[in-house]
Amino acid sequence: MEEDFRALEFVGGALRLIDQRQLPEKLVYINCRSAGDVANAIRTMIVRGAPAIGGAAGYGVYLALLEADDSTERFNALCQTIRSARPTAVNLMWAVDRVRKRAEETGYDRNEVLKEADSIVLEDKAMNRRIGEIGADVLRKGDTILTHCNAGALATCGWGTALGVIKEAHYRGMGIKVYADETRPLLQGARLTAWELVRAGIPVTLIPDSAAATLIRDGKIDAIILGADRITANGDVANKLGTFMLSVIAKTYGVPFYSVAPTSTIDFGMKSGKDIPIEERDGDEVRRPGGILMAPESVDVYNPAFDVTPHENITGIITERGIIYPPFDKNIERIRCGETI
Ligand code: MRU
Repeated sequence: MEEDFRALEFVGGALRLIDQRQLPEKLVYINCRSAGDVANAIRTMIVRGAPAIGGAAGYGVYLALLEADDSTERFNALCQTIRSARPTAVNLMWAVDRVRKRAEETGYDRNEVLKEADSIVLEDKAMNRRIGEIGADVLRKGDTILTHCNAGALATCGWGTALGVIKEAHYRGMGIKVYADETRPLLQGARLTAWELVRAGIPVTLIPDSAAATLIRDGKIDAIILGADRITANGDVANKLGTFMLSVIAKTYGVPFYSVAPTSTIDFGMKSGKDIPIEERDGDEVRRPGGILMAPESVDVYNPAFDVTPHENITGIITERGIIYPPFDKNIERIRCGETI
């Protein structure tokens, strides 16, 4: 099974992206032809989701190399523009650094740089498939899963992380059902996750974010499965705002809580979630959802895009190299040393 859409694809010398801001109303593609276009697409969330941002950024570095016209200074400045487009998802910095390093190693060979960007995408697709297989093994027949934000094919280079697990379980015939949080304020759950699951024929019920607590308390949720934007060395996880709140409720009622991510989302050099830079976005995303004024124009808004779930609240982190269980610090160190667990 494959999706019939690609969040990102490099075709005809340009990075073609689904404009995710326009879903579910329209499936529209836009082309990025420069490093600046790629940085802008990441900043404005035309492309979003940690692994998809990483995949797009890799091609951004290739476009930067073409534009830099043999100026290393210009190339580095363009890479930096892409690298700083959004602060929280570590896949962005990881991808830029990886492709830039390849450029340096190969004497700025354009073909080699493009190959490296392609590798990020191919590897991500393969990791997602493996994650799905590993993750589906923790589910039981007939389980009802709660997910938050969008960690599907749209958020990755293909297939999805949390939704990859859900899809794998569905295609195994396990008869699972999904509740999708709408995910305020940008509604990635409603606009993107519900779109992906309906398209795949997976039973999904959309809920306002605040309904999750009641469902969990009433025993209607067997597991919570969601994505990650950055995982630190001690197992703390940054993910879409609202994830932390879900983890507290899950812990209170003893519901398993799994973060799902490729190992490219682990920031081995960062000790704990306290150090993760959390993006704050424009207050108008809250004041004017969909462009319609829903609050006094002059009201102050606090709009963090992510929050940090402490590792104590996490049952396990599902990766392509196995499921990381507590003690997270020791087991993440094993992953850093190249082990499969
Ligand atoms: O602001 P977004 O839409 O980029 O946030 C996305 C998320 O928080 C996802 O859960 C995360 O990136 C994992 S995607 C596989």
